[in-house]
Amino acid sequence: EQIKKGNYDHFMQKEIHEQPHSLTTTMRGRLKDSDVVLGGLKDHLRTIRHSRRIVFIGCGTSYNAALAARPFFEELTGIPVTMEIASDLLDRQGPIYREDTAVFVSQSGETADTLIALEYALENGAMCVGITNTVGSTLARKTHCGVHINAGCEIGVASTKAYTSQIVAMSMVALAIGDDRISTRARRAAIINGLSDLPNKVRKVLKLDSEMRDLAESLIDSESLLVFGRGYNYATALEGALKVKEVALMHSEGMLAGEMKHGPLALVDEILPIIVIATRDACFSKQQSVIQQLHARKGRLIVMCSEGDASSVCPSGSCRAIEVPQSEDCLQPVLNIIPLQLLAYHLTVLRGYDVDQPRNLAKSVTTQ
Ligand code: G6P
Repeated sequence: EQIKKGNYDHFMQKEIHEQPHSLTTTMRGRLKDSDVVLGGLKDHLRTIRHSRRIVFIGCGTSYNAALAARPFFEELTGIPVTMEIASDLLDRQGPIYREDTAVFVSQSGETADTLIALEYALENGAMCVGITNTVGSTLARKTHCGVHINAGCEIGVASTKAYTSQIVAMSMVALAIGDDRISTRARRAAIINGLSDLPNKVRKVLKLDSEMRDLAESLIDSESLLVFGRGYNYATALEGALKVKEVALMHSEGMLAGEMKHGPLALVDEILPIIVIATRDACFSKQQSVIQQLHARKGRLIVMCSEGDASSVCPSGSCRAIEVPQSEDCLQPVLNIIPLQLLAYHLTVLRGYDVDQPRNLAKSVTTQ
């Protein structure tokens, strides 16, 4: 087992640091200049383009990856995307139509709720697409078509490299579906460029490791941690909080910053740490005003911002800043999650919990 961990203490740590490589393998052979080539999808693109709706279905981290993909999927395909947690779709027996494309996202391809939701979508006549890390999995076999994310085997129960590879794979799917649209040509080219740059930028973000360890030290005794995001990074807030919750065993909630004044603001005091994601994108000025409102209530703030923005986003140096490199806005979630993965990892080690096998959790939940 130690051989498989290489120079790392834990699989989660290894898998976090592997991301420049796993993202490279996700993209390998699939980006050709201004084109995206996805062998497992190409014969079905016409049908998908004619869908009335795309429904993303998954559980846990895979659901969060789909949520991160939703904004650019809608932008690049022009098709409305709705989100379903697999168990909730089944509980409601929510409507799925023949004109729908249902996209199932699952690292293992064996999660029971996701597979039962797949049966349900197949019965209802939807076009079913699988996004998985596991060749030959039930999901890969039972969907009409799909894409393997090729992130390599993930052993840590908390998903890390599969999350970023799922987002990148889904960005390539969105590019492929939307490649007949002239209006988005420049944007598509910018995203393809952004994808090629991503592994290098991930390498840079990973240098925040010791900074995130310091931050973890300062949070070691906290009872709770909030993460506020919006737009492209709403999913980052949910996924960052999920990582902290599942491995560091600390209560943590990811929240939509736009909802802050409708409840969460009541929690703000000088003790509760709050991470605000405020990297540069169309929501930046709204996040600046969130920071000001939290600051006015003496909130204990940690702000994730773009390189060079620390002094301007932190009012009078009153908060801690995490600076990350900037990428094409819709790919920023791939970079922004990494400091939060590192934070969850270090918090877990410092608090003395099992990183790779958190209590009560399983890598793949194969029963309902
Ligand atoms: C379990 C794992 C999570 C994972 C979820 C979905 O809860 O602990 O890390 O995100 O299942 O798994 P899947 O294999 O479908 O992505």
